[in-house]
Amino acid sequence: MKFEPTDRQIRSFVLRKGKMTTGQKKAVEELMPLFAFNPTTWIDFNQLFENNNPVWLDIGFGNGESIIHAAQKYPEVNFLGIEVHLPGVGHLLMSIQELGLTNVRIIRNDAVDMLTLFIKDESLAAIHIFFPDPWHKKRHHKRRIMNQNFLDLIQKKLTKDGRLHYASDWEPYALEVQELFAKNNWLVSQTTGQKNEQTDKSQPNSNFAPRPEWRPVTKFERRGQRLEHGTYDLIMRKT
Ligand SMILES: C[S@@+](CC[C@H](N)C(=O)[O-])C[C@H]1O[C@@H](n2cnc3c(N)ncnc32)[C@H](O)[C@@H]1O
Repeated sequence: MKFEPTDRQIRSFVLRKGKMTTGQKKAVEELMPLFAFNPTTWIDFNQLFENNNPVWLDIGFGNGESIIHAAQKYPEVNFLGIEVHLPGVGHLLMSIQELGLTNVRIIRNDAVDMLTLFIKDESLAAIHIFFPDPWHKKRHHKRRIMNQNFLDLIQKKLTKDGRLHYASDWEPYALEVQELFAKNNWLVSQTTGQKNEQTDKSQPNSNFAPRPEWRPVTKFERRGQRLEHGTYDLIMRKT
């Protein structure tokens, strides 16, 4: 299955080769045709999952830890994962088979392109963006996936009352996203029902949500904890 990026210039990832384990290689060869697909037209989720359950999208799923956790916990939900990193795709494919998960499908491509080109408006009950690359250097900030253009796209794709869940271990990025969310009137905090403005600047963590049941502690979060980073969850609802 070929990965064919469009000619959009600034991307939120750099495609690295990345070592594949034997298991991941085998999974990519044998299981991609079963659980992954390369859309060429608007995706029909009812047809894809053979049911009309709600669909939760995980953008940049890494090695798929969050999807593996949530897909077992919520069998009545369909999970679509979009990731460019092939070893991670291989890892998730292996787990899908080992655990016999029937509610997970994968696209190996750029999530921004896929949302724009192939995911219908108001078709996603939740969009999860966990630990997106923080792009620490100032000159790289333009690569951060979460910006106003991307948020406009998300607004279109979520169902009414759909959830947007962003989590990060990089406080400056999380505060930037919190500010961005506060400027968007269509978003309210799922926990408080209020707009998620940072009211007390001396307590930067005060308005973040506790980790909910659908998000496990992933490898990236554990790495952040070792570096003494905090974790910042923003869980919003589309009004
Ligand atoms: C820091 S990792 C986090 C992985 C995972 N969400 C977690 O919490 O463990 C960010 C991931 O996002 C992926 N990524 C970044 N931009 C992407 C895009 N536009 N489309 C698909 N995947 C993307 C990267 O390849 C990388 O695996």
